[in-house]
Amino acid sequence: MKELKIESTLYIFDSIEEVPENIQSLMKQAVNARKKAYAPYSKFSVGAALLLENGEVVTGSNQENASYPSGLCAERTAIYYAGAQYPYIKILTIAITAGLQTKTTSNPIPPCGACRQAIAEYEVKQESPIEIYFMGKIGKVIKSNSLANLLPLVFDKSVL
Ligand code: THU
Repeated sequence: MKELKIESTLYIFDSIEEVPENIQSLMKQAVNARKKAYAPYSKFSVGAALLLENGEVVTGSNQENASYPSGLCAERTAIYYAGAQYPYIKILTIAITAGLQTKTTSNPIPPCGACRQAIAEYEVKQESPIEIYFMGKIGKVIKSNSLANLLPLVFDKSVL
């Protein structure tokens, strides 16, 4: 038996003011998207903003449903829109902000596993990394240079 060690490097910023200016602007668009979340059941609002290589920004928020599994996360709402609208344009960065509607969540909220899998698909498709920045509603921001850091041993088209 051999041991396989998997390492990921993430970067932690103390606040939004510390991240590059263009990312601050992207995160503000994610905050605006979060305010448009339709989350009457969980009361947990999420906003995502994607910066594309052509300079366009695509945003999304979580969209819930009385039939719970029919709802969709913010990240997938945004990335599927980008995939549908701009199929040949690379995604450079995704900014995510999330928190309970009733609380000032200050711990960074990472994308869920299903969203990581969805983002991974586009990273593989475009053959270049997608930067991910995620935060709560205030406070620290965490950056990953690539989705791959958040999803080691990815399941992708190479096995099909
Ligand atoms: N949610 C997202 O939008 N993104 C995630 O990565 C995790 C969870 C949404 C789904 C649901 O509407 C609410 O947050 C609570 O799970």
